[in-house]
Amino acid sequence: MAKLYIKTFGCQMNEYDSSKMADVLKASHGYELTADPEAADLLLLNTCSVREKAQEKVFSELGRWKEWKAARADRLIGVGGCVASQEGEALAARAKIVDVVFGPQTLHRLPELLEETRRTRRPAVDVSFPEIEKFDRLPEPRAEGPTAFVSIMEGCSKYCSFCIVPYTRGEEVSRPLDDVLAEVDSLVAQGVREVTLLGQNVNAYRGKMADGGECDLALLIHLLARFETLGRIRFTTSHPAEFGDALIEAYAVEPKLAGYLHLPVQSGSDRILGMMKRGYTRAQYLDKIRRLRAARPGLALSSDFIVGFPGETEADFEQTLQLIEEARFDSAFSFIYSPRPGTPAANLRDNVPEAVKHERLARLQARIRSLGADYARRLVGTVQRVLVEKPAVKGGGRLAGRTACNRWVNFDIADGAPGPLSRDPPEAWIGRFVDLEITEALPNSLRGRLVQLAEPLAA
Ligand code: SAM
Ligand code: F3S
Repeated sequence: MAKLYIKTFGCQMNEYDSSKMADVLKASHGYELTADPEAADLLLLNTCSVREKAQEKVFSELGRWKEWKAARADRLIGVGGCVASQEGEALAARAKIVDVVFGPQTLHRLPELLEETRRTRRPAVDVSFPEIEKFDRLPEPRAEGPTAFVSIMEGCSKYCSFCIVPYTRGEEVSRPLDDVLAEVDSLVAQGVREVTLLGQNVNAYRGKMADGGECDLALLIHLLARFETLGRIRFTTSHPAEFGDALIEAYAVEPKLAGYLHLPVQSGSDRILGMMKRGYTRAQYLDKIRRLRAARPGLALSSDFIVGFPGETEADFEQTLQLIEEARFDSAFSFIYSPRPGTPAANLRDNVPEAVKHERLARLQARIRSLGADYARRLVGTVQRVLVEKPAVKGGGRLAGRTACNRWVNFDIADGAPGPLSRDPPEAWIGRFVDLEITEALPNSLRGRLVQLAEPLAA
């Protein structure tokens, strides 16, 4: 059986794409995934170019793969994702060991590209954007556990001045509604209880409906909520400028929509937001959050920040820190600005000293960590609904699941309310929603005590 090894860098979209590459190649050539690169006949690198560091990793990884290629010339090497999309032919020219170069929108063509390189003995390159064709050509989704990602759109048309994504993944294209519903239907039939709708900017979703109309994200959420055994719906990422009233209203009326939102803000300074071309002001962002929290009290909020954008002054950065206080994020991803060739911001003079960037990042991260710890402490003593996802990392028969607010909780079925189900083995609990009383907040997880099974068991 031919073996496939995939190394993935970057975002959840890339994780999703990598799993689709494995599906496509299993269907076309019977490739089986392996975690051991040295055992692989085909090695794929799914790359990220959102920051320079991520991009550099690609070439150092390929450097490591050189000897494996030298050891077995019939071994094939492919590079996909955003670096591949950006570099195209140039990538194969620079890294001679590469046989196939494909983009985020052409991964479904991998089987043909492999055949082409085998036939011609030259690199096969396809980094085009053939719109939605990718989804039509993917095999049936395979569920791996009770949670699943469902990509509902591709690309981004926001063109934030610092961001490479619209150039590497193309403009926004939504999957037709019926395709998304069919995918969720299949996942639910395989036991999936929670879906995360994926896209760079999912609130721009405009799926074609069979009657010729358009379905937005709010309507999609309402339609998905009708799947009886689907207990929880999440989405990521969304953009503050397009966060409309219908979506805010969904938080008020749709209990299956998780009370957690990742809403990247990037900066708290209007001057910087303008230079970033984000399309909203600090006040508008805070107003959205106020309305969201009115719709869903207790909503947990996370965000993305960029520090050290060209021209960012101490006063600009202070405004970001103040925004963090006002919004009370409980987690965040934060990055030092990385100029990306071809983006408008790359032409701005980068006048923030490196040491200042690092110091700002450290201050911001310390504040977010402390808010996150406060949030976790406030959860102690509350009862949280958790979807049991897997055995706890430390084992011992304990289980792990996530709260609606996206926190991991470990618990032991033997420690809690005794019930007719407590004799079930731990594996039988995976995929069940349970109510846990949070007993302890640890730095990266919570500990809980079983209060009750949160639902009637399916027959
Ligand atoms: N769709 C998301 C949004 O609404 O902003 C962003 C997706 S982007 C791939 C993920 C995060 O990477 C961004 O939110 C931003 O914080 C960060 N990022 C993007 N370009 C960057 C750059 N040039 N330098 C540093 N961080 C960057
Ligand atoms: Fe990038 Fe802005 Fe889109 S950060 S992914 S261009 S919303």
